[in-house]
Amino acid sequence: MNTAVNLGGIAMKNPVTTASGTFGFGLEYQDYVDLQRLGAITVKGTTLKPRLGNPPPRIVETPSGMLNAIGLQNPGVEQVAEEIMPRLAGLGVPVIVNIAGDTLEDYARVARRLDGVPGVAGLEVNISCPNVKKGGIQFGSDPRTAAEVTRAVKGSTGLPVIIKLSPNVTDMVAMAEAVAEAGADALSMINTLLGMAIDVDRRRPVLGNVTGGLSGPAVRPVAVRAVWQVYRAVALPILGMGGIMTARDALEFILAGATAVAVGTGNFVNPRATLDVVEGIEQYMQNHGFTDINELVGLAQRDGGSC
Ligand SMILES: Cc1cc2nc3c(=O)[nH]c(=O)nc-3n(C[C@H](O)[C@H](O)[C@H](O)COP(=O)(O)O)c2cc1C
Repeated sequence: MNTAVNLGGIAMKNPVTTASGTFGFGLEYQDYVDLQRLGAITVKGTTLKPRLGNPPPRIVETPSGMLNAIGLQNPGVEQVAEEIMPRLAGLGVPVIVNIAGDTLEDYARVARRLDGVPGVAGLEVNISCPNVKKGGIQFGSDPRTAAEVTRAVKGSTGLPVIIKLSPNVTDMVAMAEAVAEAGADALSMINTLLGMAIDVDRRRPVLGNVTGGLSGPAVRPVAVRAVWQVYRAVALPILGMGGIMTARDALEFILAGATAVAVGTGNFVNPRATLDVVEGIEQYMQNHGFTDINELVGLAQRDGGSC
């Protein structure tokens, strides 16, 4: 049985990775998850300089999901390259580093610093963080600026570049087309949906940042729809995510058109969720007589018309 996939130049032994920000830098999960069983490890958003993130509270539970406004807390690219990557590189699992910045130049410098660092298999460019004042969503809500970030990163690295799209736009297909045209190697979707919660007793917003990003099972139908639409329009491999808790959830994304999938909020509910998804996909393939995972990619599109 072949479960290996190629995500825009990143060779993964199975299609399952972690969603950035929900798995730290991977090592934190070592007691629960045999990291070598994962297709890839996608690590926390990394910026040029270390960041402390937003004031607390930074997380609130919602029906069927959560809101977060972490604000890209991370130790900065220098520490990631010098201290964290050497420990991860030894695992032999491709590491996808999620990068973010306040300016185009920031994105380019982070990308340049990570180019050639052992273990880094690709960059996932977060142009869609709803929880930071500068950078983030402002790059990811306009096709022109999204294309500029893509070109800046592509021009600074030889690594495969995955552009992570925001659902907080009118037309995700237009965004996908713009970054594809600008040279992206793959797309990842979706980032969190902008939301907020209000504490009615204190009569004020719950989160220190006021608004936050909604993730978890509540967003899954939105994410599956986005993958479905973009798969039809753009010929780039897709890393699908949004509310994946089980193998069946992951299969929805693959059948909609995702080449690989990421487990995010699911890790907080079940630290072994990634492995359950890997094993469940294999079981599904066995039960249904599929010998190659790639046969399943976009298979549900058959009934959708001309594709
Ligand atoms: C606590 C938390 C932190 C996150 N941090 C990042 C981040 O640093 N960079 C990024 O691109 N996405 C970040 N995300 C978004 C996730 O990677 C993912 O796109 C989103 O949560 C949807 O997947 P899920 O429903 O499986 O969690 C974060 C999500 C959560 C819940």
